[in-house]
Amino acid sequence: MTQQKYSHYSHILKGQRLPALILDYDLLKKNVEDIIKRADGKKIRLASKSIRSVPILKRLLSDYPEFQGILCFSIEEAVFLAEKGLDDLLVAYPSVQAKVIEPVCNLTKEGKFITLMVDSLEQVQTIQAVAAKKNAVINICFDIDMSMHLPGLNFGVYRSSLRSLKNVLDLFDKIKDFENVKVVGIMGYEAQIAGLGDKIPGNPVKAWIVRLLKKISIPKLRKLRKEVVDSLTERGVSLTIKNGGGTGSLRSTSEDSSVNEIAMGSGLFSPTQFDHYKDFKFNPAMFFALEISRNSEGQVFTANGGGYIASGPVGKEKLPTPYLPEGMSLTANEGAGEVQTPIKISGSDIKLGDPVFFRHSKAGEVCERFNEITLISGNQIVEKVPTYRGEGQCFF
Ligand SMILES: Cc1ncc(COP(=O)(O)O)c(C=O)c1O
Repeated sequence: MTQQKYSHYSHILKGQRLPALILDYDLLKKNVEDIIKRADGKKIRLASKSIRSVPILKRLLSDYPEFQGILCFSIEEAVFLAEKGLDDLLVAYPSVQAKVIEPVCNLTKEGKFITLMVDSLEQVQTIQAVAAKKNAVINICFDIDMSMHLPGLNFGVYRSSLRSLKNVLDLFDKIKDFENVKVVGIMGYEAQIAGLGDKIPGNPVKAWIVRLLKKISIPKLRKLRKEVVDSLTERGVSLTIKNGGGTGSLRSTSEDSSVNEIAMGSGLFSPTQFDHYKDFKFNPAMFFALEISRNSEGQVFTANGGGYIASGPVGKEKLPTPYLPEGMSLTANEGAGEVQTPIKISGSDIKLGDPVFFRHSKAGEVCERFNEITLISGNQIVEKVPTYRGEGQCFF
């Protein structure tokens, strides 16, 4: 892992407005190279929830032919991106709001390749009804549940109700004669491999169990994915999209011949959530800078802002992680605050007005707290680009 020094970033940010969200483009490029190597020839679909900036998405798609298409997190977002000139938009999560689905009809008729996710008859019926009214044919993709169901443990996530080949074929049989929907893909996201760290600090036994469960789960999920792909193909479905994986499963998903594309986003910015995997360590490309505004006492300073807590089950790891200068820590009683964050800083000559740097637990979520991303390369700021929020967009 490559890490810069505090003096490097503080020098570049001199005189800049704080707080600021920073993207070290040199480190991002290193991550991209590593990611492409791990994907081993498979096309990579950018998971936009982990990026949330149109200029960054566009830049990645134009700079690297390995990146093709976007895995969107909402239908409204896909419409927004289509209107911004992007194409090949697979919406990863379903919605049954007719008003939200409607704009997809016109965009599809205009030639955009937009695909909506489904796992139930009701969802497909809703899409069919909206598309029929607009005289359009909307592309749909089956979301296959890849989790491993054990007694007392769902090793994976609760998402799709399509848990078996039979579930998939039952749904397919019910909708195959619908005139205004077309099955173009399947997605099987193995969250328990891709999103679950297996190098757990201070808990080697738990880490060993997670690795063991991962090992057992991989052949099982591959088998289901293959059965689904083969059976739908036998029934005459042409599957343009056979999607799987995420940042933490690049290697294993790349070995799966039933998959023709891997969805991935977090590894690009490399937030702290992805620090604890046995197989890889990407570079901390994204982080944020806070202004030190007071020296409460001795080595305790106060920064403005900082309480950017990540979603998911509550735990300390959802707090921003002190990054640079080294020797910083949050206080147990206050954590990262709504408008003020006390920080203990030892061994560093921090003065009022100086920036201090934190890393977020997740990749894209932090973009919801900032209007722009400051891109740096070498010893300078090269560009400032808007986040979705900076463009007035908030999808969830
Ligand atoms: C359906 C789906 N695919 C892929 C991913 C992987 O995204 P990332 O690489 O940003 O973790 C996710 C993450 O939650 C997801 O929900």
